[in-house]
Order: sequence, then structure tokens, then C-alpha cells
Amino acid sequence: FSLPESVNEPINPYAPGTRERALLKAELERQYHLELDIPLIIGGQEVRTGKTQKAVCPHDHGHVLARFHEAGEAEVRMAIDAAMAAKKAWEATPWEDRAAIFHKMGSLISSKYRYILNAATMLNQSKSAFQAEIDSTCETADFLRFNAGFMEQIYRQQPISDPHVWNRVHYRALEGFVFAVTPFNFTAIAANLPTAPAIMGNTVVWKPASTSILSNYYLMQLYKEAGLPDGVINFVPGRGSMIGKVALEDRNFAGLHFTGSTGVFNSMWKTISGNLERYRSYPRIVGETGGKDYVFMHQSGDVAQTAAAIVRAGFEYQGQKCSACSRVYAPASRWPELKERLLGLLAEIRMGDVRDFRNYFNAVIDEAAFDNTMKYIELARNAKDAEILAGGKGDKSKGWFIEPTLILTTNPKFVSMEEEIFAPVVTIFVYDDAQLDETLKILDETSPYALTGAIFARDRYVINHLTEALANTAGNFYINDKPTGAVVGHQPFGGSRASGTNDKAGSFLNLIRWTSPRTIKESF
Ligand code: SER
Repeated sequence: FSLPESVNEPINPYAPGTRERALLKAELERQYHLELDIPLIIGGQEVRTGKTQKAVCPHDHGHVLARFHEAGEAEVRMAIDAAMAAKKAWEATPWEDRAAIFHKMGSLISSKYRYILNAATMLNQSKSAFQAEIDSTCETADFLRFNAGFMEQIYRQQPISDPHVWNRVHYRALEGFVFAVTPFNFTAIAANLPTAPAIMGNTVVWKPASTSILSNYYLMQLYKEAGLPDGVINFVPGRGSMIGKVALEDRNFAGLHFTGSTGVFNSMWKTISGNLERYRSYPRIVGETGGKDYVFMHQSGDVAQTAAAIVRAGFEYQGQKCSACSRVYAPASRWPELKERLLGLLAEIRMGDVRDFRNYFNAVIDEAAFDNTMKYIELARNAKDAEILAGGKGDKSKGWFIEPTLILTTNPKFVSMEEEIFAPVVTIFVYDDAQLDETLKILDETSPYALTGAIFARDRYVINHLTEALANTAGNFYINDKPTGAVVGHQPFGGSRASGTNDKAGSFLNLIRWTSPRTIKESF
């Protein structure tokens, strides 16, 4: 038999006057006043260490949504033990049953958990209703359902046999536990990183980001309600450096599934290298890291389409997507039109509280992000070769708000053309139309990253030329579309160079990393 077909979860627009909008508003109200006490969850048990941190609303950082307990070394070891204890039974669970649990998770998200996850993602991660819906509902459900299908696709790959010899590949789980480290910016990534190894029969120690704890805690409730056995995923919030050290020193460490900064990933990789002799096997290391994603417009490109792509990819979710557009190359011949469009679109953006659905734009995640971004904006303000074209103001008195900011530079290697800021700041370089190839070369060499990129052109020869010239600059390359919003099953996602190991989330290519196949030959 075959599994149910994986279909993408439809996006609900929460239009005014609809029942869905009323339900989401009611859930926002409920969670806003709840002040949850969030425990660690180890082997299915709630563990409270008494050492707590606050989870707040970025748009109103004085408002406490929850307090969460932080793991100490002892709890990390407990989580590793719980993962190892759950491993044998989970691995032996028929894959169809594992798939059924994941489809159940998808169905629960479609209905009850849609509101819970969206409200938590809006309040604690400062996403608008639309951004929360496409992330914590649609992409999360898509990962869970499609990964079941990808697992089936992998398991059905079997070698050739003949009447005298039966060859088969047993797709074993890894021998040990997987350590998942997740970022604040996508609830879907926080869901995918522990669950992708889990569906392949692995058990997991999960360190969630401290700034997305609310939605991540509700994910644990969802897993339990769907029937995921205790100990398969262990929820261990706390200080990353300590948790990482304990997990990566353990003999049973078998794989790392990471999304976060390039710096942290590099340092974890070095720690793993230093510990190699301790492990049973060479660990799987899968990471998606930074980006300095671009929009490149050719003179044949459509101005309205390019401007909309820059604004959406640059400023939706305050530019805090690893795929967000943060550098633009505009042809001098079209720049006056493009500039006018961009400024017109930016003037329409409303910024504020996530609970007011008219706000397209909300707060950045925390004070460190705010301060870091303002530092880059000030650099541009004071630079001889740059100017602030729009935005540029920040106010952290109540929430961490920074206006969507456009920087114009005459220097294609200006610091904000090169370094990732992870914030609502887009830097534009206007190139001479006659210098097309020189500009492409500069684009290729300016930043160490290669995650996403988009080109806008109508001329087919030019599209092909750009596609070839920029071959190594992006793992996800878009032609006449914005560089954000990859859909599970449609655009497998991941980058190379300093952007990660390019093990394409949302495809079988990621899941295949979480199995250690054994080939069995039986002669008759
Ligand atoms: N997958 C997301 C996107 O494509 C980024 O992580 O926008």
C-alpha cells in the first residue's frame, strides 16, 4: 500500500468578518494573558529547573508571555539518555506507523493547532498573521506530511535481485541520537529540524531558540497529541554553548541538524572535529546558515515586478528570513523608475503591533538584533559612499521597531552589500548598463554566502546568460520572482558556500542524511 498523497496546506487569508479571523483573534487574546510556565520535556516528562527566562512580545518587550525553564548540564544528559532509551522501539516501529503519526500532526495543524501555532508565532516572534500562517501552519504541516512521502520514496529504492540472490537495503536510523538546533525565525524550521531525523527512525535532543519558545513548546504538545512516543524528541531550551558542548561531547552523538548563523555552525563543526575519536561513526552534519541574498535587475526587467519583489523579500518579516533580499543591483537606465516605485511601496507599509492585522511590518526579534541593525544604519548614514534613501529610524522604547530601510551606495563592496545583517535593511548599488559582466563578477565575489538570489529580465538570451554567470551564487535561484518563500515539495531549499551544506530541506535529499543504510545480500 501507499501513503496518503502529500498536499500543501492551503493559506488562509483571515479576511475581515470570517470565522477563522475571529478564532485567531480569540487565540491571540488567550495567549497574550496566559503567562505560561514552560518546562523542559524529557522522555515525555515535564522538568522544571527553577532557572527561568522570560518570553516576551518583541512589539511590546515589557509584556511577558511566558517563563521558560533552562536546562543545566544534568538535564542535557537526561535528554540524551531519554533519546537513547526511546530509540530501539521507535526505530522498530513500522515506517507506515511513523508516517501515520506525521500525517496526524498535519491534520491537527490544519484544524486546532493552526490558531495556537499562529498566535504564538505572532506574539513571541513578531510575525504578521499572513507571515505566521505561511510559516507555522502551512510550511510546518507541509514539512510533516511531505517528509512522510519522502521517507517512502527513499525506502522504496531497492537494488536489483535475481532468482538466486535477494539484495536489499535496510535504511537504518543513525547509531546514536541527533542533535537539532533551531532558529527563531521560522516555526516551520523549528518543526522540521527535529522531525526530519525522527521520521527516519532517529531520536532527537532539540535545543530551541530562546526567542521562539512559545510556538516551539506548542509544537511539543502537537507531537504528543499526534501520538509521537515519549523520548523521540526531547525539548531542551537553554544556553546554546553549554548544551552544545555536552551534546557534542557525547559518545552517542550521531548527527547535527542545524539552522542558524555561519559563525555558530563553524564553531560546532570544529568542536565535532575535535571530538571525532569519541563517536561510534562519523556524524552527519547538516546545516543551513547565513545569506546575503540578492535581486539583480537587468535593463529588460519589469520595474513593477522587481520593486514588489525587493519590498516583499527585503521587508516581510522585517527582513529576518535567511532568504531575505538584502542587496540589489539596479541598472542605471531603469533606476529612476525603480526608485520611484520602491519609495511608493515603502510609503504604504504600516508598522506596529501584530494584533492589528493592518500592520504589514512588526518588530525585530530582540534588543541585540535592534542594536546591531542600528549600528549598520549609522555606518551608512555617516559614510561618504552611501546614503539612506528611506527609513533609517529605530525606536526601542516599547518594542524593537526599525523602519524598513533602503541604503543607496556607490560602492558595490560597501559593508552592507557584503555582510549579513538579518534585519529590514536593503542596500542598492546602481550599475552602468554597459558593465553587465563586470557587475555579475562583483556580485559573485562580494559576499561569502550563496543561499538565494533573483534575477529580473525579459530577454531570453540575458536570462540564460545571468543564470550561467551566477551559477554558484545561490542554492535557490529565482527568475522573475522574489527570492523568499520556497514551498515544500516545490522548491527544495538550501545554499552552499558559507550558507550551509545544501542538503535541501523539503525534499528527499535532506531525509537521506538521516539514515545509515545496510545492504543485505541473501543467496538461495
Ligand atoms: N525557506 C524560507 C524561504 O524560502 C527561508 O528559510 O523563504
